[in-house]
Amino acid sequence: MMIKVDYAGKHVFVAGGTSGINLALAEAFASSGASVSVVSRDGERVQRAVERLRALGAKAAGAAVDVRDPVTLTETVGGFSAQLGLIDVVVSGAAGNFLCPAERLSPNGFRTVVDIDLNGSFNVMHAAFEHLRKPGASLIHITAPQSSVPMRYQVHCAAAKAGVDQMTRVLALEWGPLGIRVNAISPGPIDETEGFARLIAPDEKTRSRAQGHVPLRRFGRTEDIANLALFLGSDHAGYVSGAVIPCDGGGALESVKPAIEAAGSKGNQ
Ligand code: NAP
Ligand code: COA
Repeated sequence: MMIKVDYAGKHVFVAGGTSGINLALAEAFASSGASVSVVSRDGERVQRAVERLRALGAKAAGAAVDVRDPVTLTETVGGFSAQLGLIDVVVSGAAGNFLCPAERLSPNGFRTVVDIDLNGSFNVMHAAFEHLRKPGASLIHITAPQSSVPMRYQVHCAAAKAGVDQMTRVLALEWGPLGIRVNAISPGPIDETEGFARLIAPDEKTRSRAQGHVPLRRFGRTEDIANLALFLGSDHAGYVSGAVIPCDGGGALESVKPAIEAAGSKGNQ
């Protein structure tokens, strides 16, 4: 069940908001009354996402942009702000990942994931800053448990997401005096996503083992992450900044890493 927060008159920008968790967040904000803008690389995906957001009654805009391209990203976010108003909430969740043992990962493979997940997050906040409502705006990074729980075959993603966590804290220090809150959500294994099926639960046996490692004994749903994002973006979270918040059924404590590592050792990528 979705929490009720009124986002009427607000503009929410979701980087990577065209599939999976990020699209679910974009739709949750749209259903709560916000105007929503999205970017990702694939133009058809962007078009489909914009249509879904409009079908929910929201004003929506989208563009095919790679977060690794700061110039186009900056121009695009400026255009969104001119069209939909100053930005009240940024969700920064564009990411790429695959399983690969460190010694087999090429330098370009490592760089690619760091470029999307970490440098891309830098580019998103940098492009958005000028257009944020000050005071009042909120930046929400989407990180991952690998940022603090070391996992085999995840050297690229773990390093990038650790950077995202620390960037969250530094930005909270720098932007707090401007009235901008900065937080991160660390989702556990979220069912319904392509990454979950590919990286965590490629078959029934692995799925059931992974579920056994979550203290709440269920996988997450996109709605679980959406509820936390709706809260963090709102005045109800007005004194929450610099926090990296797990939304994982306690999974980072028990750690679903044995299941992920088992999937990697079977050659699943
Ligand atoms: P997803 O469905 O693959 O979504 C990733 C989104 O990012 C897509 O819309 C993709 O669209 C976009 N994207 C990828 N590279 C991009 C780039 N270079 N520039 C712009 N957009 C880009 O993934 P997801 O599983 O829902 O993950 C969403 C977020 O949650 C990620 O930050 C991920 O690390 C985090 N997370 C997920 C899980 C999980 O269980 N799924 C667990 C922990 C953390 P295009 O292909 O069109 O670019
Ligand atoms: N194992 C090892 N290396 C891999 C790999 C894999 N499964 N997939 C890609 N790479 C390497 C490539 O070989 C290449 O390195 P090389 O030039 O030395 O050969 C490098 O990574 C870049 O690959 P490329 O396909 O050109 O990158 P891209 O920018 O088109 O795509 C990815 C980025 C690789 C992260 C791709 O998986 C992606 O687009 N992911 C988005 C969706 C996603 O991962 N969602 C889950 C979010 S958590």
